[in-house]
Amino acid sequence: MKSKRTEIINAFKAADGKTISGEELGDQLGISRTMVCKYIKGLREDGYEIQSSPKKGYTLKSVPKLLYPEEILSGLNTTLFGKNIHYFDEAGSSNDIAKKLAPTAEEGTIVVVEQQTGGRGRLGRKWASPKGGIWFSIILKPKVALSAASRLTLTVGLSVTNTLISYGIDAKIKWPNDVLINGKKVSGILTEVEAEIDTIEFVVIGVGINANMSLKDIPEDLRENSTTIRDETGKSIDRVDFLQRLLHEMEQQYIRFNTQPFSEILNDIIVLSDTIGKDVKVTMPNRIVEGRVVGISKSGALLLKKEDGDVEEIIAGRCIYTKK
Ligand code: BTN
Repeated sequence: MKSKRTEIINAFKAADGKTISGEELGDQLGISRTMVCKYIKGLREDGYEIQSSPKKGYTLKSVPKLLYPEEILSGLNTTLFGKNIHYFDEAGSSNDIAKKLAPTAEEGTIVVVEQQTGGRGRLGRKWASPKGGIWFSIILKPKVALSAASRLTLTVGLSVTNTLISYGIDAKIKWPNDVLINGKKVSGILTEVEAEIDTIEFVVIGVGINANMSLKDIPEDLRENSTTIRDETGKSIDRVDFLQRLLHEMEQQYIRFNTQPFSEILNDIIVLSDTIGKDVKVTMPNRIVEGRVVGISKSGALLLKKEDGDVEEIIAGRCIYTKK
C-alpha cells in the first residue's frame, strides 16, 4: 500500500507544476487539511520545495537531488527491477541489508543508500561510498547453477557500461567486475550468493558508481586508479534518471540471461571489453598467473595466453594490467 507521503508526491507529479488546493489534496488522500499541512511540512524538511499561496494551495517547485523511492518509482520503466525499494540516508553496506531481506524479498527488490559507512568491495577490500555516488544492491533469484553467478556479474557490468554509454560516455568493461572510463575505474560490482549444494537461493548484486563526487572525496588509500563521472565529464548526472535507466537496462539483460545462450550477451561484452588484448597479472587465492588476454570463454572465464603459449581459463581472480 502506498504511504500518504507517496500519494501527495504522486498528486503533485500528476498536477505537473500546477497548484493544488489543500482541500483537493485532503479529499484525494482521505485526510484532513491539517494532516495535509503536516505532510507538506515533512516533505519540505526532506528537501521538496513546495510553495504555498493563500486561498490557492500548494505548488511543487522542485524535488530534492536524492534517490528517494518516490522519485525512482515515478518514471521507472521496469516490471520487476526496483519495484520494491528500501532507502537509507546512511547505512553500513547495502549488500548486508539486502542479504538480510533476501530470503523473504521479492526478486528485483533494491536497497539504496545515499552514504555507506561500511561499503565493501571484492576480496575483503573497503569501498569508499560518500554522498553523491550511486550505491545500491539488487536481490535476484535466478534458476541457474551456482557456477552461473560470475556470468551474472559480467551481465550487470555490461548493463552499467551500456547505461554510461547512453549518456555519451565512452565506458569499457574490465574483467571481471569493473567499469572504466578513460582506463580508470568508475564502477565496481560485488556479487554475493546464498546457495545450497548447487542451487542458488538468492544472489545479491551490489553496484557502486562513483557519480557526482570527486576523487578527492575518496580516502587516498582507496583511490587506486579510480575516477568519477563528474571528474571525467566535468558535469554531474541526474542520479535518479541514471538509476532508472540502469534498472531498465539490467532487467532487459536479465531477461536475455534467462532466455538466451550466454554467448549472445558475451558478444556484447567482448565488443566493450577493455581487457582483451591486455597483458595482465591475475591473483588467485593460491597462485598468480601472468599472460596476454586473448578472450572471454562462454562460461565467462578469462582466456589467458601464457609465455609458454598455453591458454588457461581463469574463472575468478584479481586482474591487474601489467602494461599500459
Ligand atoms: C569492487 O569493485 O570491489 C566492488 C565494489 C562494490 C561496491 C558496491 S556499493 C553498493 C554495494 N554495497 C557494498 O557494500 N558494496 C557494493
